[in-house]
Amino acid sequence: MKEITKDLYQFSVYIPPMDFTIHQYLLNCDPAILFAAGTVQQAQAILPDLKKILKEKPLKYVFVSHMESDEAGGLNVLQKEWPDLKVICGQLCARELPGFGYKGEILAEKAGQEVNDGDLSLQFFDYPSEVHLQNGLLAYEKNTGIFYSADLFLRYGNDVGRTIQADWKTEVDAISEERVPNADERRKLQETLKTIKPSFAAVGHGYCVDCQ
Ligand SMILES: [Fe+2]
Ligand SMILES: [Fe+2]
Repeated sequence: MKEITKDLYQFSVYIPPMDFTIHQYLLNCDPAILFAAGTVQQAQAILPDLKKILKEKPLKYVFVSHMESDEAGGLNVLQKEWPDLKVICGQLCARELPGFGYKGEILAEKAGQEVNDGDLSLQFFDYPSEVHLQNGLLAYEKNTGIFYSADLFLRYGNDVGRTIQADWKTEVDAISEERVPNADERRKLQETLKTIKPSFAAVGHGYCVDCQ
């Protein structure tokens, strides 16, 4: 676990055979939010650290970009610890989660909608990441300038705790066909992302990007 930028804690697992890192992030503001639930094993492993950082404060939100084990797997583990937890996710994911036995509250969001609560001001972007390239979500926290990019800027290598400096527009232009195969959707997403100016990209895999 590492405080990778102010109040943002990165939790990681490195998988040597794949040369691949999986990250989750706790933004320890009020209310607190976790970006990606992690797998069941990861959620169980980070629980003690989450409680240590949060102290008496509950974990109020978990952002789930799309329905995949690294993003959603550990939700039941987290909800057992914090029964009032709210999952923020896209429309398709919101329909799927109950099928995986998730019984907690779900906020189904889409592009253009926001969640404003205390320190948090979350703006969402559609992201064709779901099965059959239906929309998942990306999240931008406007007060801190933190952008959670899920698989969008995915990179291989052991990048636990690593941040590089890069220009936001260059990162957005580099989004490849591998990440968003539909050319029209990719162009649309790139144009939309260029309307914001995050200070920090918290990635699901690979190194983080300090865009200041
Ligand atoms: Fe994914
Ligand atoms: Fe992922």
